[in-house]
Amino acid sequence: MKIDVLTLFPQMLDGFLSESMMGRARSSGLVDLHVHNLRDWSTNKHNTVDDRPFGGGAGMVLTPEPLFGAIEELQAEGTHRVYMAPDGEPLSPVLAEDLSQKKHLLILSGHYEGIDERARQNLIDQEVSIGDYVLTNGTLAAAVLIDCLCRFLPGFLGEEKSLTNESFQDNLLDFPQFTRPADFRNMPIPEVLLSGNHAKIEAWRQRQREERTRKRRPDLIENSQDEPGN
Ligand code: ADE
Repeated sequence: MKIDVLTLFPQMLDGFLSESMMGRARSSGLVDLHVHNLRDWSTNKHNTVDDRPFGGGAGMVLTPEPLFGAIEELQAEGTHRVYMAPDGEPLSPVLAEDLSQKKHLLILSGHYEGIDERARQNLIDQEVSIGDYVLTNGTLAAAVLIDCLCRFLPGFLGEEKSLTNESFQDNLLDFPQFTRPADFRNMPIPEVLLSGNHAKIEAWRQRQREERTRKRRPDLIENSQDEPGN
């Protein structure tokens, strides 16, 4: 899949996009990722891309000219244009999986007080929030979205079954994991994990998921139409 990111802070993405699994996915050609500096589409000699809001108030707003210029140049037939914004649709595994199936994503990260509403209404297909808090700009939010959706690309995780057993599947959090040593500083692991009895282990894990979810995130159970585990 191809992903273009449009930001005022391209360097914020340098490390993230070249390290670890994302770096491997890029060098293997699984993800064709390009980062663009919105300032390159500035239409004035001072290279500015923002201005004071009409009606007064604090902060600066990204002006329409560079946004229209950049997006019109970077988009192609079938491009899905996403704007990262705190008032967007909340990011979820379902949303991430859906976006991972697009052929070409163009992700715009805003900043300051936001972007001119005419750009939002005419250039953007979907607005996404990574949580109910406000970041100084949307570049980190774009990184979070990219990381989250790339996990759904076939071949990205290597072992595809890693996706089947994790938090938020079936509206439940994940179960606790243990590795060697089986007894560390007088803290033994739950015995059932040493039993070799897969049915018992699965039942224990399922109970742990349900208990954890009830304790830490009861909203996941309350807000789901399904019963936990369905
Ligand atoms: N930009 C600033 N805050 C954000 C958030 N919570 N989600 C997405 N984009 C943002």
